[in-house]
Amino acid sequence: MPFVVARFHIRQQPGDVSTGRLVMYEIKKAAVIGAGTMGLGIAGQLANTGTDVLLLDIPADGDRRNAHGERAVERLLDESQPGFTHKDKLAHVTIGNVEDDMEKLADCDWIAEAIVERLELKKALYKKIDAVRKPGSIVSSNTSTIPISLLVEDMPLEFREEFAITHFFNPVRFMRLLELVRGADTKAEVIDCLETFNEARMGKGIVVCNDTPGFLGNRVGVFAIQTALHLAFEMGLSPEEADAIFGRPMGIPKTGVFGLYDLIGIDLMGDVAKSLVSILPEGDVFHEVSAEIPVMVKMIAEGHLGNKGRKGGFYRISDPTDSNSKQTLDFDAFEYRDFHAEKPAEDFTKLLATDDKYGQYAWQILSRTLCYAAGLVPDVNESLVSVDDAMKLGYNWLQGPMEMIDAMGVDTFIARLDAEGRDVPAFVRAAAGRSFYRVSDGRLQYLLADGSYADLKRADGVTRFSEIRRTISPLMSNAVASYYELANQVGLVEWHSKANTLDGQSMTLLEKAVAHASENLRGLIIHNDAQHFSCGVNLEGVLGFIRNADWDGLDNFLRHFQQTVMAMRYSPIPVVAAPSGLSLGGGFEVVLHADKVVFHANSVTGLVESLVGVVPGGGGVKEMLYRWSEKEGDVAKGAWQAFMNVGYGKTARSPLEAETLAMFRDGHDSYLMNRDRLLDTAIHEVLAMAADYSSVARQPLAMPGRDVWQEMKVWLDEAQAKGHLTPHDITTGGQIAMIVTGGDVDAGTVMSETDICALERKAFLTLAKTSETKARVEHMLNHGSLLRN
Ligand code: NAI
Repeated sequence: MPFVVARFHIRQQPGDVSTGRLVMYEIKKAAVIGAGTMGLGIAGQLANTGTDVLLLDIPADGDRRNAHGERAVERLLDESQPGFTHKDKLAHVTIGNVEDDMEKLADCDWIAEAIVERLELKKALYKKIDAVRKPGSIVSSNTSTIPISLLVEDMPLEFREEFAITHFFNPVRFMRLLELVRGADTKAEVIDCLETFNEARMGKGIVVCNDTPGFLGNRVGVFAIQTALHLAFEMGLSPEEADAIFGRPMGIPKTGVFGLYDLIGIDLMGDVAKSLVSILPEGDVFHEVSAEIPVMVKMIAEGHLGNKGRKGGFYRISDPTDSNSKQTLDFDAFEYRDFHAEKPAEDFTKLLATDDKYGQYAWQILSRTLCYAAGLVPDVNESLVSVDDAMKLGYNWLQGPMEMIDAMGVDTFIARLDAEGRDVPAFVRAAAGRSFYRVSDGRLQYLLADGSYADLKRADGVTRFSEIRRTISPLMSNAVASYYELANQVGLVEWHSKANTLDGQSMTLLEKAVAHASENLRGLIIHNDAQHFSCGVNLEGVLGFIRNADWDGLDNFLRHFQQTVMAMRYSPIPVVAAPSGLSLGGGFEVVLHADKVVFHANSVTGLVESLVGVVPGGGGVKEMLYRWSEKEGDVAKGAWQAFMNVGYGKTARSPLEAETLAMFRDGHDSYLMNRDRLLDTAIHEVLAMAADYSSVARQPLAMPGRDVWQEMKVWLDEAQAKGHLTPHDITTGGQIAMIVTGGDVDAGTVMSETDICALERKAFLTLAKTSETKARVEHMLNHGSLLRN
């Protein structure tokens, strides 16, 4: 979300003749000026790519002249949301200030300015940069609102040729969008260099924008938020009601509109909207949703600023120790009342078919927002794909505006607007009887402003499965998973349940896919490009077995899971997993059984089962025991590591962290900065392995046995005595200890993978039969938080 507080008017830039200098642009060393929210984020991501970066801010008062930089580094290392993929990345960052260290810019190939949004300060800084930078270095601004023409109006042509806007989104490590804006004089090679570097190295989805107010993402995103806000007040909807509509059902993050205002800060979000509207032309319909809302003025005046303030915002948690203490501000009484959870509607197309106030609310927001977005093509951006990408990558919408119109049907959309006597944007009218996207001869195409279609092409190596999926049909499919054949005889299994949780059907499909691919194809990939690869086994299903005391059913489910991942591991063809987002619990157990893994740099991985009172029962403990034993060169040491890490349910927030937890095999698995490159790389990996592939059987392990099991139990008792663990942590930990040692057996007792899997099932069932595990699972499902019993 942008922080923009400026008012500027667009002016045309005088067209100069190019200097005609031929320069090869390449970014090896970078500088970021401005060590605030955005500057530190950009510097952190540069460091994550392994690029050395100089981070400068104004000198602070007193002795510690680089205090702003020091504070930025602290924020990058902050455990709650680290900007680094690993704390060692700090080594790539040098801090300094713009008085003492300007000459160091002479070494830098890219100088990214991210100082406060004030034109005169930025302009003064560019003069200073220009005095020291080397010819052929690129300078860019992170501005959200100031046109390039104004930023560089006083600068020489050489500078203007090497200047662009690189508009990142916050937080830079996680938000995928980069809007790249070319000025009238910016050289094509400069844009090419920024595009290539930021796509492949910084991992961004690039949308090249014209130099128009708010570019694309904020223009549409903030308009949608303001529309949802104003309509909610006009229609008398409570925050809960509004957020239940303008959220998940529309494929928009579940914070909705009021939750988002709280998250960003009610004052700050208001400033963003004001600032944006101040730079838009008078006739722009954005002005209709920009008026201040009296109750919000009062909220700001009385310090109800959202999550950041002690007084709360539209919502607040009245008791931080009680996750059920959420409250909502009643606008009439101006007092907090209990939060009423609203059940979100299923999907916006169904919502739109209803005529109640929720259906009306959804229609009004969507019709206005989608028309606004469509109205930007072609003047603000030539391509509807850019508009859709901006919203998907910059605002985490599941579908872009044009995709949403397609989903409801272009003709249905037009007919409803016509029936209401409303304007239909020319670009929507041009799509009448057709759709914005179509598949022709197996190729995904999109509509151009002139009414023809063009193939949707992405950069080499960039592939989104959601786009490929539209051009092929699955060989097998059920409610939660599908199996496809891609080019070059490579199969792909995609999960598509809610949060991609796994159940028996997911495993049945995977089992069949492994069998089919082994017979017919050269390799198999497990991948999806949903937000999360898999949040683990469906706990509702597990709770069903527990409530019905169906222990045979539960045992069969686990056995089937284990047999499926083992069949995958020992299939005659290579299997590559390519996960992004969360891969937790059972989802990660599948990943652990792939021959190779292509991770995303922000992939989160972990076996978190112990936290809900069970153990990983899909071969996860076994894998950890093998991997740690190999890493430690000793099974007893490996058993201790597996015991501690699985016991604490440790997660890694990047592959680099995963390596230290034996969840990432250095020199074997790999990771990429851009998640849109995972699939293409996975295909290359699987084909490279296919040439001479044979699976290698694992040797059985000589288990540590009952003495080490006993030592672990003593360790658990001591930890409990110190108050570090709860009673049920001890029970769960004891079962993990049983698996990793082999339990009540002599040291050196040899166990195969199948034997260890049997111990996992035994432990899982033992725990599932306890009332404490049932309580933990129920608590997680009801409250989304852990029960520490
Ligand atoms: P910020 O207020 O967090 O940080 C600005 C930093 O610039 C401060 O550390 C300040 O000390 C430093 N600074 C001010 N004048 C300076 C100078 N002459 N030389 C060196 N350092 C100087 O601001 P934030 O949010 O990081 O925004 C930076 C830029 O990024 C602005 O242009 C803003 O519009 C843009 N932006 C902000 C987004 C956001 O979500 N915060 C999103 C996208 C763009």
